[in-house]
Amino acid sequence: MGSSQKHQHNDTNCVRVHGPIIVGAGPSGLATSACLAQQGVPSVILEKSDCLASLWQHRTYDRLKLHLPKQFCELPLLGFPRNFPKYPTKRQFVSYLESYASHFSIRPRFNQAVRSAGYDAVSGFWRVETLDSEYVSRWLIVATGENAEPVMPDIPGINKFDGSVVHTSSYKSGFEFKNQRVLVVGCGNSGMEVSLDLCRYNAIPHMVVRNTVHVLPREMFGFSTFGIAMALAKWFPLKLVDRILLLAANFILGNTDRTGLRRPKTGPIELKNVTGKTPVLDVGALSLIKSGKIKVVEGVKEITRNGAKFVDGQEKEIDSIILATGYKSNVPTWLKGCEFFNKDGMPRTPFPNGWKAEKGLYTVGFTRRGLQGTASDAVKIAKDIAQQWRLINSNSCNSHVIQLKET
Ligand SMILES: Cc1cc2nc3c(=O)[nH]c(=O)nc-3n(C[C@H](O)[C@H](O)[C@H](O)COP(=O)(O)OP(=O)(O)OC[C@H]3O[C@@H](n4cnc5c(N)ncnc54)[C@H](O)[C@@H]3O)c2cc1C
Ligand SMILES: NC(=O)c1ccc[n+]([C@@H]2O[C@H](COP(=O)([O-])OP(=O)(O)OC[C@H]3O[C@@H](n4cnc5c(N)ncnc54)[C@H](OP(=O)(O)O)[C@@H]3O)[C@@H](O)[C@H]2O)c1
Repeated sequence: MGSSQKHQHNDTNCVRVHGPIIVGAGPSGLATSACLAQQGVPSVILEKSDCLASLWQHRTYDRLKLHLPKQFCELPLLGFPRNFPKYPTKRQFVSYLESYASHFSIRPRFNQAVRSAGYDAVSGFWRVETLDSEYVSRWLIVATGENAEPVMPDIPGINKFDGSVVHTSSYKSGFEFKNQRVLVVGCGNSGMEVSLDLCRYNAIPHMVVRNTVHVLPREMFGFSTFGIAMALAKWFPLKLVDRILLLAANFILGNTDRTGLRRPKTGPIELKNVTGKTPVLDVGALSLIKSGKIKVVEGVKEITRNGAKFVDGQEKEIDSIILATGYKSNVPTWLKGCEFFNKDGMPRTPFPNGWKAEKGLYTVGFTRRGLQGTASDAVKIAKDIAQQWRLINSNSCNSHVIQLKET
């Protein structure tokens, strides 16, 4: 049986999908489709871009490597090739995702940006609209990611600035910023790593740190910090895990407060769980901050034609601005009439129960736990839908055929 049936209605194709519709062909969409396939459930993935994992292929910088060891970034059912290094590069990660898709015969429908989706209470089906088609299914799986859109802050005066302003999602390498004074707004993992990259091209990054931030070494005593945290968390309360991590981090990195990177009062793992704020895993930026090659500056008050004024009264001339200000979900722009998501496009129900909404709606990859969260959601969703699928198919071969009202 094919996974969909097509009808033409006016200029719009109407596609009846037998299994679930998955929106997004990133790691989350692929993992869910693979887990469904393993349970014998077909699915259709709608992807707005022209390729899978578009975030990784089109919207990340060249020097990006996974920050976590590969065993924490694998998707379900098929691991990384053995010859991959501990921290795969983004190219290796993309090649893994491509092999993953071909191994499970996953063929997303590209250039299908979902413009709107809503539940039709009369038919009991989800109606999902793209520019040229309407897809209809009993199940809708949201896999558009926590990082769907760049956050573009409205900094006073930024429109008057003469130089270039780019978000890290468009930054590839420091090559185009050679010898420039660059204002890097934000000190998350992107801000730190882009600042590090700029130094390789003799640029002078001024990194804006407006708040407190936890910086941890990527590894402690030869083991990944993330792995150590996971292992400790199995045995000890989070506050104690945080205390141990901070003790070791201070031993390895020294007191980061002295560099202008003040630590929050709440520990790194607790903070991540409560607010979703990721600690920075240092891959070299800290030593460049210590040596003065990356300059830490306070919050920006105003951008001028050729520079920036800071809240501490300082003023600096700059040539370019890189916004390392993070990302946001885009769910509120296309999913209509759904209370399950908050205004920021994140599930209101926290991890580990945010994967299932009601009326056949599911979410994957909104756990603030990276690819590990994706893997956990994908397995649960596939099991849940497979149970319904079997029930529907065992009742009668016609019981799942619903007469859809032509509109
Ligand atoms: C620079 C960077 C580095 C990261 N490194 C790591 C790491 O090392 N380890 C880790 O665990 N996590 C990392 N993350 C987090 C990372 O985003 C996720 O782990 C992973 O990409 C999430 O996969 P996803 O499929 O949920 O979302 P995405 O990868 O964002 O995929 C979502 C897909 O949905 C598509 N889409 C969006 N809106 C629509 C629409 N309306 N219609 C159709 N399609 C749509 C997008 O084009 C995209 O292809 C990193 C994030 C960034 C930004
Ligand atoms: N190699 C890797 O694995 C890797 C590399 C890069 C990114 N990532 C992941 O990708 C995700 C996104 O990371 P990210 O670094 O792009 O974003 P992020 O973690 O959300 O950090 C955004 C930064 O921008 C700051 N900011 C936002 N608006 C600002 C404003 N108006 N003025 C000044 N500062 C502002 C934030 O400060 P506040 O804290 O004050 O809000 C924060 O420091 C994270 O999960 C991260 O771990 C992973």
